[in-house]
Amino acid sequence: MGVQDQMASPDQKRGQSTRTVRANIAARTLRTDNWRKEPLITAAILGFFVVYTVIRLFMNADYFAVKENYLTPVYSPCISASCVEGASDFGHWLPKFPVGLPLAILVFPILAGFRTTCYYYRKAGYRSLWMSPQACAVREPHAKYTGETRFPLVVMNWHRFFFFLASILLLVNTYDAIKAFHPEGHAFGFGLGSLIMAVNVVMLWLYSLSCHACRHAVGGRINNFSKHPLRYKMWTLVSRLNPKHGNFAMASLATVILTDFYVMAVSAGWISDLRFLN
Ligand code: FES
Repeated sequence: MGVQDQMASPDQKRGQSTRTVRANIAARTLRTDNWRKEPLITAAILGFFVVYTVIRLFMNADYFAVKENYLTPVYSPCISASCVEGASDFGHWLPKFPVGLPLAILVFPILAGFRTTCYYYRKAGYRSLWMSPQACAVREPHAKYTGETRFPLVVMNWHRFFFFLASILLLVNTYDAIKAFHPEGHAFGFGLGSLIMAVNVVMLWLYSLSCHACRHAVGGRINNFSKHPLRYKMWTLVSRLNPKHGNFAMASLATVILTDFYVMAVSAGWISDLRFLN
């Protein structure tokens, strides 16, 4: 036995012996269970959300219910001079848009970037769409592995920046949800849409607070928690939410789509908002 073999750790030795005895299997996998099912379901769900959102973005219509004061989160904040009256509480930062250019041209990339680079969606996307890896013990179709070091996957490293930008949008969404309790001509009032928007914003807060980048923002880069009691408290809270991040990710995606669809239906006149007060 050489000096290097003597110095190798048990794990290294195990790795060496695994490499030398590994069978040369031509089959992509020896798994006999239905391992394709889970990635296919995830791909179908993600695909539905992508198609729905793209259609909504290019509709450029039915995003604000005037009487009820409902603005869909997909178009918020609406900052173009093309936005319908009452939908631009934060002003017109952009001029009128030519026909066909989505009003959410600035907002959507932030939302999409935040979700796409989210650790949970990364896992889901890598398994179901990128197929790297597709499942345990299944050889992936890619011949080369470069991780997240090259375009387009290098963008995944920007998650913390998307987190801060999306946090600004979250404050705007919170404002929109409060506004939904102030219908036109009344100091206070609410309908089913107000409740849907409120639930949506709670889910978005849970999703953002449980984010890994949020956890790092509140508790990272310090050596001693005892000198930072407030940050320790925030980190403890975020750490409690963090294990449920995957659930919040899917639930908040569903509530965003539901909110958008409801606002569209009310705004387009397909249905009347169910009013409880005013
Ligand atoms: S890790 Fe999912 S939003 Fe940050």
